[in-house]
Amino acid sequence: MLFIGVDLGTSAVKLLLVDGAGDIKRSVSEEYPIEFPRSGWSQQNPDDWWAAVLKGVPELLRGFDAADVCAMGCGGQMHGLVVLDDHDEVIRPAILWNDGRTGKQVDYLNETIGKERLVSLTANIAYAGFTAPKILWMRENEPELFRRIRKIMLPKDFVNYRLTGSFVTDCSDASGTLLFDVRNRRWSEEMLRVCHVHASQLPEIRESYDSIGTLAPSVAGKIGLPTGVVVCTGAGDNAAAAIGCGVIGDGRCNISLGTSGTIFLSSSRFSVLKGGELHSFAHADGGFSLMGCILSAASCNKWWTEQIIGSSDIASEQAGIDPDEAAEEQTFFLPYLMGERSPLNDSSARAAFVGMSMATGRPEMTRSILEGVSFAFKDCLNIARDQGVSIESSMVCGGGAKSAVWLQMLANVLGITLLIPKTEQGPGYGGAMLGMVAFGMYSSVVECAEHLVAVRDEIKPHAVAQGRYERRYEIWRHLYPGMKDIFTMMTGQKSDRAVEK
Ligand code: XUL
Repeated sequence: MLFIGVDLGTSAVKLLLVDGAGDIKRSVSEEYPIEFPRSGWSQQNPDDWWAAVLKGVPELLRGFDAADVCAMGCGGQMHGLVVLDDHDEVIRPAILWNDGRTGKQVDYLNETIGKERLVSLTANIAYAGFTAPKILWMRENEPELFRRIRKIMLPKDFVNYRLTGSFVTDCSDASGTLLFDVRNRRWSEEMLRVCHVHASQLPEIRESYDSIGTLAPSVAGKIGLPTGVVVCTGAGDNAAAAIGCGVIGDGRCNISLGTSGTIFLSSSRFSVLKGGELHSFAHADGGFSLMGCILSAASCNKWWTEQIIGSSDIASEQAGIDPDEAAEEQTFFLPYLMGERSPLNDSSARAAFVGMSMATGRPEMTRSILEGVSFAFKDCLNIARDQGVSIESSMVCGGGAKSAVWLQMLANVLGITLLIPKTEQGPGYGGAMLGMVAFGMYSSVVECAEHLVAVRDEIKPHAVAQGRYERRYEIWRHLYPGMKDIFTMMTGQKSDRAVEK
């Protein structure tokens, strides 16, 4: 028996072929472009995602018997606004999770509708990346296109719709729309009214591990799979990654070092932070989660290495950095290339190097990036700790987790043990696991994880280094408050911090 896990990411779709024992037999990645039409805007063409899936699946199956494939499941980039017309054609490029154009609509939601009301209806406050402010933005800025909207969906739901014809989403991804009543796992009628959305425009809600049907015959033929392949609802990529790392049930933590960086805390009970500093979402195991999201994590390394210094070798840039020796010299980095979500809620924030001297070189700047992103994670962890959540250890996944230097630095900065799973392919692996449950191979996500997920290695914080980073964090955490007004002046946007440091 074989299963396909799909990680619909921001830079590429990553496909995994997994056997019934959970071993990865083959993986394939197909890239697609991302547009940044203005500073802080980011969008992608959903048809490019679909073309990448159509190209990637036959490549994934090469050398295997497609008749053995039983089910597939997708973990997808969250919050993206995908809009289709009467003919199921894409109306405009999807506005992505790290797009910051909706400052004005976020202010309207948080100030006029009010944070308290939003939290009581949806368990969350508005952030620029969420879907609801983007719908309001389209209504204001593209009224002609807005009028043509027949279906509103999230990125992985678009792929599932093309695969099966079923117009469905899951609770974890729906949570990030700000149209969803997380506690009761249903759309919020009042939020639909606020955002001028009709219920018929939204997908039906299912749990992540439910089947939404089988492949449409025309698609099965195109990608070389049997029509009987079951497709599950799937999940937002962070919930799917948590499943793939066994972060299920109560009190577990997963850190994702991907394009974005997230700290994901699983819980069987619904909980909400009144100020909305962490997202309160439904989890793909049927429970709930609290999550902090930083918008630029491993993407800072990619930006620095590829775009600025023109190298493709991130590993050799990082070679020579001792993660136990916090830098002596005073170069610091703020990682807000796309503004910041948690905990700042400031789409006008921007990245900055601070404190350079004639002694500063490329290695120091590279190092300050790893450190600055680690400090941004610490900001999120501190919010959870302030709420009395105790975190001693965390699973870790994502492309950035390939760097041993960065993992040790992160463990030192956060003061927690990082657990490396046997399989680091977070969202794709979680997608395959959800597919296994939908197919009936396991009776629950818990049972599936008990069989498939194991810890391969652990990285403990080093006490002396921890103290060194603590002192540097004390300086770093004063940089943003000092620059906040400058960022606002630069980008001409009003900023809105959820939390004062
Ligand atoms: C989570 C978020 C990001 C994207 C990345 O809220 O916006 O982690 O899901 O794909």
